[in-house]
Amino acid sequence: MSCLESLSKEELIGLKGSLQKEYEQVKSRNLKLDMSRGKPCLAQLDLSLEMIGLLHTPEDFRSENGMDVRNYGMPDGIPEARRLFGEMMGVEPEAVIVGGNSSLNMMFDTVARSMTHGVCGYSPWSRQGRVKFLCPSPGYDRHFAVCEHFGIEMIPVPMDENGPDMDMVERLVQTDAMVKGIWCVPQYSNPTGITYSDEVVRRLAAMTPAAKDFRIFWDNAYCIHGFSQDDRNVLNILDACRQAGHEDMVYLFCSTSKVSFPGAGVAAMAASRNNVDFIKKCIGIQTIGPDKINQLRHVQYFKNLDGMKAHMAKHAAIIKPKFDAVLEILEENLSGLGIAQWTKPTGGYFISFDTMPGCARQVVELCRQAGVVLTPAGASFPYGKDPQDSNIRIAPTFPVIEELRQAAQLFCLCVKIVSIEKILLAK
Ligand SMILES: Cc1ncc(COP(=O)(O)O)c(C=O)c1O
Repeated sequence: MSCLESLSKEELIGLKGSLQKEYEQVKSRNLKLDMSRGKPCLAQLDLSLEMIGLLHTPEDFRSENGMDVRNYGMPDGIPEARRLFGEMMGVEPEAVIVGGNSSLNMMFDTVARSMTHGVCGYSPWSRQGRVKFLCPSPGYDRHFAVCEHFGIEMIPVPMDENGPDMDMVERLVQTDAMVKGIWCVPQYSNPTGITYSDEVVRRLAAMTPAAKDFRIFWDNAYCIHGFSQDDRNVLNILDACRQAGHEDMVYLFCSTSKVSFPGAGVAAMAASRNNVDFIKKCIGIQTIGPDKINQLRHVQYFKNLDGMKAHMAKHAAIIKPKFDAVLEILEENLSGLGIAQWTKPTGGYFISFDTMPGCARQVVELCRQAGVVLTPAGASFPYGKDPQDSNIRIAPTFPVIEELRQAAQLFCLCVKIVSIEKILLAK
């Protein structure tokens, strides 16, 4: 089919009529499908099930330094877990703090700590005035929720296929001392799926912030989540910061939520010596130690980064066909119509879809009325406000493939109906 804008008013009205009929038919099937959250499916969760039963005898619960992991202690994690997560993040074990099951929790705590107790001896962010964060958008809605929770002003920064608009980032970071942080999902970004270019990483590392207590929040949640093992990896930000003489400027985060279990994985962060020393003092007050049994289970199960990567290939074999199914349906139904564009990620958990401006909310609502739940339009932007009302995040991993196909077909139908309505308004 040709570009919809080129059709006459009559042709568009006719087309809309037949699409509407199709929509009513689908609606009458009372579907109940969910493409809203980036969750592993059941088959993915089953991949790591063996890990649960690994430890049996009292000796099994000893970490390599002889400590009994069932007991209190080691608030920064057991040594073998620090080594494993060091490999995952590309840093030395001494730079790593291994925590509980959620990296989002570690990010929340890091922001909270900075607000109340400052960063490495600087005065608390909250006492310095209205704190601001740069928010590359579309981005991860829960990062933005953390900012909103603490009353941090969010400044959206446009993203392209290389990462955030670095001219804007540099200008704001280097001129405004109340800009204290930037959220980055550098590999298979949520939701666009892009990986930051080497140049973007180097420019981030080379910044000389107006605020001495500025930090990059490097959330590498999808660092080993490529569909193919030889995909390009994002440059090592801690190395880049060290080379630029700014090693204190970055916090790295990761977890095994989408490697083992989102509800019972292990999370970790990494940073410079100064940062780690400062953070460890606070963590030592917050807890007498994280769940080290789970840390040990993870190390015993995966052994090392190669073990993790081999495991990730099994995940890819399950989810890549789901991405392919959705992408095929989008291509078949929407390609060449001039009403939408979408990303074709090579890893991660999402497809980012852009409708014509002003259509996203209506598409999500139309899908909802026919039984398909999508992430709310605008969720990937600070304050839930997409200025273009065009971005929709598609999460293909959780549904079984047949349901996913039905949901994607309905989605395309809704995009076409809403787009035709929009074009007709301008005719
Ligand atoms: C970019 C990003 N960071 C963090 C998380 C959550 O991580 P965790 O389960 O370790 O808290 C997600 C989950 O979707 C995510 O997409």
